[in-house]
Amino acid sequence: MHRRIIAPGALAAASLLLAIPASAASHSPGAPGIGDPYHPNYGNGGYDVSHYDLRLQYQPKTDELRGTATILARTTQDLSSFDLDFLLDVSEVRVNGAKASFATSGQHELVVTPKTPLDKGTPVTVVVRYSGVPSTKSAYGFSTWHRTPDGAVAADEPEAAWWWFPSNDHPSDKATYDVSVSVPDGTQAISNGTLQSTSSKLGWTRYTWRQNKPQATYLATLALGRFDITTGTSDGGVPVINAYSKDLGDNDGAARASVERTGELVDWLSGYFGPYPFASAGGYVPNTTTGYALETQTRVYYSPKQFANGSNPSVVVHELAHQWYGDDVSLKRWKDIWINEGFARYAQWLWSEHEGEGTAQELADYVYASHPADDAFWTVAPGDPGADNQFDAAVYDRGAAAIQALRNAIGDDAFFRILKGWPQRHAYSNASVADFVKYAEQVSGKPLSALFDTWLFEPAKPAASSARALVKAGATAAQPKSWKKIEATNDVHGH
Ligand code: ARG
Ligand code: ZN
Repeated sequence: MHRRIIAPGALAAASLLLAIPASAASHSPGAPGIGDPYHPNYGNGGYDVSHYDLRLQYQPKTDELRGTATILARTTQDLSSFDLDFLLDVSEVRVNGAKASFATSGQHELVVTPKTPLDKGTPVTVVVRYSGVPSTKSAYGFSTWHRTPDGAVAADEPEAAWWWFPSNDHPSDKATYDVSVSVPDGTQAISNGTLQSTSSKLGWTRYTWRQNKPQATYLATLALGRFDITTGTSDGGVPVINAYSKDLGDNDGAARASVERTGELVDWLSGYFGPYPFASAGGYVPNTTTGYALETQTRVYYSPKQFANGSNPSVVVHELAHQWYGDDVSLKRWKDIWINEGFARYAQWLWSEHEGEGTAQELADYVYASHPADDAFWTVAPGDPGADNQFDAAVYDRGAAAIQALRNAIGDDAFFRILKGWPQRHAYSNASVADFVKYAEQVSGKPLSALFDTWLFEPAKPAASSARALVKAGATAAQPKSWKKIEATNDVHGH
């Protein structure tokens, strides 16, 4: 509620102003995209979200999702209208309490026109009532809503929110979340953060989750189905909540033998990356047929396939490493994906070393030796891989080799100070590859742009001379024992 006190002498002028429509000159529509070159329509212009409150109901039998999203935001320009990214059917939108008009546009835009234009720098509350069957919706010809025999799951990158809540869908606009979902008794609803309460009434059970630290939209997750939920606390005091589909069949044992190590691995990673940044940790394994894992904040998504060849703590290390590199410190633009995947892969290399299954140096040597100079692998530059190559093996493997090259160039002392310092430097915020290069130069006191150009930006195999301590060109390195389990992390690409 805003009250303006008008000085008596200004009353005449004020009543004159009332005759002029407020939007006439300065208020304009917010852009349909936030300005990411890889994904021009992702996110939106003109406002910044601070909190999503989602109160939902889901029926697994019909895949019907309905509910109300309350979004707290602040305008960053004078707005006559603004967009949300969303695919379900909207029945009502309110802006600051007043009914707003709305229309769909493009692939996934919901255009909201408030009754009164919004001034720059003011708080806005948007309430969206909606319903729909997410599995019937698609954008650009794909869907990231994955149905399971007992429900569904929303977990994908770089987009997953459009199928379950309206948002400013870009990692550069992080917000806190309250997610409360009602499901038929016997079904569980899994989301991010801490489980605040469960309550049962008339055949429906409501699960209420809270994420109290800023979270990117693609890291918000929702799983509905029959789950076994386990809880515990790590030695370091981090509460752990995991969930396993009751329908994992042959993969059940290997999934639990991996994911139940979350607490131990969070503590181990804290030794390299500093204190765990969130109020809880954990993961869940739904009975999907997808093949990838995803670092959904505090509640990692794993697919059963990753445990089809036995337990794989390395994949758990990868996704937990993202809690610092990707979730706590998020990318500014999708081209900065190396900050996420290079470091999560490197954490697996450190784990391999710890387990005696190959040192980080041996893994870097193997990446270098196993791809000849004319291999297309070297044409993808991890520092700016292109929208179609965001999750290419080069971003992970060459990306991690780049980190080993940095370690060799500056020495272990500066290197491990950087590894631990970075999450503190940009805590709960966003940073770019350029920011990392600057930070590494600052901490090490060494000029590093040539090294990063060679390893991150040249679409060619680095010369052996620039790869001090990496194997010579043409030499072959033995495949480290950990290699196959490490690569199983990102076996499946695309939606
Ligand atoms: N960030 C994920 C990981 O490396 C990759 C997700 C890839 N996305 C996809 N749709 N396949 O753990
Ligand atoms: Zn990853």
